Amino acid sequence: MSRVFSGIQPTGEPHIGNLFGAMFNYVKLGEQYGKDAIYCIVDLHAPTNPNAYDKATLSRLTFEMALANLAAGLDPQKVIFFVQSQVREHSELGWLFTLQTPVGELERMTQYKDKAGQLESIPAGLLMYPVLQAADILLYKAGTVPVGEDQVQHIELAREVARRFNHNFGETFPEPKAVLTKEALRVPGVDGHGKMSKSKGSNSTIGVLEGMESIWAKLRPAPTDPARVRRSDPGNPDICLVFDYHKLFSDLDTIQMVNTECRTAGIGCIDCKKALLPGIERTLAPIQARAVELKQEPDQVYDALQDGAKQARAIAETTMGEVRERMGFLGR
Ligand code: TRP
Repeated sequence: MSRVFSGIQPTGEPHIGNLFGAMFNYVKLGEQYGKDAIYCIVDLHAPTNPNAYDKATLSRLTFEMALANLAAGLDPQKVIFFVQSQVREHSELGWLFTLQTPVGELERMTQYKDKAGQLESIPAGLLMYPVLQAADILLYKAGTVPVGEDQVQHIELAREVARRFNHNFGETFPEPKAVLTKEALRVPGVDGHGKMSKSKGSNSTIGVLEGMESIWAKLRPAPTDPARVRRSDPGNPDICLVFDYHKLFSDLDTIQMVNTECRTAGIGCIDCKKALLPGIERTLAPIQARAVELKQEPDQVYDALQDGAKQARAIAETTMGEVRERMGFLGR
């Protein structure tokens, strides 16, 4: 069985889009793959965007992302979970891959174009971002990469990097495949402006560690079917973000009730939103309780990450031995 690898940006507190799109999926794949499931908080990637990088917060955000994943059920005994900068081989393999990657290929990446377009001075690291990402994956010879749709182009590039290396230096790396979770495509922002995203600000997101009152304050004014102006107008759940949330959080009975009663104007939008709260609470309360525990015992988090880095390093060193030899570096 091939390995699974995924990288998580240390963006601070994750939201329910991350929870359903990524974090629960990591837990599930962990059950299946065990130590062949490798998850990494990619703190070396974070500073490539100077607008988002702040040296004063990087380590805190890295810690918080680790904590949130552990609280959501990721078991560091079962999988390998670590911080990218603590395994030096990521930087080393990233450099070696830059030697073979045409600049033109990198300049075509849509994420690069978007981010570079907002900057006056473009750091070379922003251009190299997907090369480091390829190194993350290939260091562990992972064949499967669970990601959101926006990462598909980067995984394509990683395939290209693997192919080129294999062609130049002999068969070494598998070509990794992106696997998309359907939820990752679908969780809409609570403000009604497209996909839930941290970059759209906290009006778009429902935080995994956010309190119920604060969640309700965002949910209550959330836009629903715009054709439903009056309480007596029937609505269409298929175009309503609240119904999308029901499908994530609520039990089948509630989903069916809401589906029928919305279409017949049996319930209003506020009723429908209220019916969502028990499901949200059922999902988030245990995660939040666990997060409180971990915050009180931060060493549990640090130790788990150190331990994960050790396990990752063992695999990474083996790959790097092979790579150094194949590329012709002095071996002794
Ligand atoms: N670029 C990914 C993102 O923004 C994060 C990432 C870095 C990653 N390295 C990775 C994802 C390797 C999958 C595999 O979400």
